[in-house]
Amino acid sequence: MNTVIAVDGTAASGKGTLAKKLAAHFGFYHLDSGSLYRLAALGVIDAGGDPNNEADAVKAARVIDPSKTDDVRLRSAEIGKAASLVSVFPPVRAALLDYQRAFAGRKPGAVIDGRDIGTVVCPDATAKLFVDATPEVRAHRRWLELKSYGQAPDEAQIFKEICERDERDTNRAISPQKPAADAALLDTSQLGIDAAFAAALALVQPKIEALRARPRG
Ligand code: CDP
Repeated sequence: MNTVIAVDGTAASGKGTLAKKLAAHFGFYHLDSGSLYRLAALGVIDAGGDPNNEADAVKAARVIDPSKTDDVRLRSAEIGKAASLVSVFPPVRAALLDYQRAFAGRKPGAVIDGRDIGTVVCPDATAKLFVDATPEVRAHRRWLELKSYGQAPDEAQIFKEICERDERDTNRAISPQKPAADAALLDTSQLGIDAAFAAALALVQPKIEALRARPRG
């Protein structure tokens, strides 16, 4: 089995930053699975569709181009919300599954961040983290992030949207946002990027080493 690190967690918890840093540290490929849902959401909106409409969402999810994940339009709060709406539909999730599983097979290893990587996409992942922080801290981080994209966000509004997204992502029937039974929990509320990375590495490294030490065959 390939070496896979699953980094799940709540909106703006820092999971993407941690996943990127873990991938750089181990020399692995990194996939932000949320950007696939964001691409599907952008596809719906560009086509004049409705993210609450299952047929519109599925049509868009089936034709996303994963090489377009650096499109800055994906990072808006509007697309984040629309991504959480399209992601409740099982055929949307199914349409994005093969790409994620194939990515997980990339050698020498893959780090994938999202909501259901450790539970559904890669239940046999080598190491699993579930990253969280208080909604206040997450809203502030998202506010800083949106500002860095040249947007003029309202922090109170972002706080409200993060709480709504937690509610929708946690309570949906399929692939809800929840830690895998064997995930290590990491609360980054009090941690800066370097401290959060050190904590993540301390949780992940032993699992990677254990896999490497295992006799092949
Ligand atoms: O960066 P942030 O955590 O705000 O969002 P994201 O990771 O880009 O995900 C956007 C939305 O896509 C989430 O609110 C989820 O509803 C959905 N998503 C999902 O359902 N499953 C994943 N593996 C990743 C994202």
